[in-house]
Amino acid sequence: MKIVILSKGPGNYSTQRLKEEAVKHGHEVRIVNYSECYVMVEQNKPVVRYRGEEIKDVDVIIPRIAASLTKYGSAVSRQFEMQGVFTTASSIAIARSRDKLRATQIMARAGVGIPKTAFARGTAEIDDVIEQVGGAPLIIKVARGTHGNGVVLAETKKAAQAVMQAFYVEGVSFLVQEFIAESAGTDIRAFVVGGKVVASMKRQSLDDDFRSNLHQGGEGTPVKLTDEERKTAQKAAKAMGLPICGVDMMRSKIGPLVLEVNASPGFGIEKVTNHNVAEKIIEYIEQNAKGRRRKDRVGA
Ligand SMILES: Nc1ncnc2c1ncn2[C@@H]1O[C@H](COP(=O)(O)OP(=O)(O)O)[C@@H](O)[C@H]1O
Ligand SMILES: [Mg+2]
Repeated sequence: MKIVILSKGPGNYSTQRLKEEAVKHGHEVRIVNYSECYVMVEQNKPVVRYRGEEIKDVDVIIPRIAASLTKYGSAVSRQFEMQGVFTTASSIAIARSRDKLRATQIMARAGVGIPKTAFARGTAEIDDVIEQVGGAPLIIKVARGTHGNGVVLAETKKAAQAVMQAFYVEGVSFLVQEFIAESAGTDIRAFVVGGKVVASMKRQSLDDDFRSNLHQGGEGTPVKLTDEERKTAQKAAKAMGLPICGVDMMRSKIGPLVLEVNASPGFGIEKVTNHNVAEKIIEYIEQNAKGRRRKDRVGA
């Protein structure tokens, strides 16, 4: 098959691993920097161009879209979808996963455990919002943050009020969330391929940061999921319409709580767990790309 990996970083470990496994399986692979692609929108003729030529006859795209380029990257992916090209992550699901509020609403509806979350506009009822999520300490996170940037732990009610006011003034969309103290500094990443968990790791912050993101200096170790955790990850993936994704969960007193579902999860988990995740993705493509295109049924 002719596979295009949409990636801004051709040298990225994840991009390289996907390429390596695809080549090993006899596919023709090309890495395309989607941020340099341009799209011609004409009646009945969806074209994607790159460095002066049309990208043609693609069977499969693997979008690896950076959070900072969600809109553009998903528009380029969508253009391939318009041509009937199979994708490992639909443009609509990518966009959906990047909005933390939208994602939590969808997961809550599907019965996936999430931390108690509030969202509001305007400064009038700050105290009630704080009370509704259980009071301080609490977490405030910008709706489109990544890598732990934009996630604040407000230890006191005063701090929470100040942060919320600052965000309101700046017009930043944010969530207010119950602080899961028992899981502070750790979380679990479950890598889902074809709707099933294929690898999982625990991430631990190295200093006393409450954020466990590897980008904040967190460290990963392999972890065996409980049945409940595995089911929760799979349910979250399904709810978000992402057959391939990374589900982040916290272990809480009341069971697993999902923080987010990543549409372009990194492959660092391969080094931590010794599982060949990239090959699983290529196999998933081989089993699914020839069939009918999967319709997005999330409806939100
Ligand atoms: N409600 C919470 N309670 C405790 N820790 C949290 C909570 N939300 C996030 N964290 C910590 O902060 C990290 C980053 O939060 P997350 O929602 O995943 O944002 P990002 O998209 O920036 O990674 C998480 O991995 C977790 O360690
Ligand atoms: Mg995260």
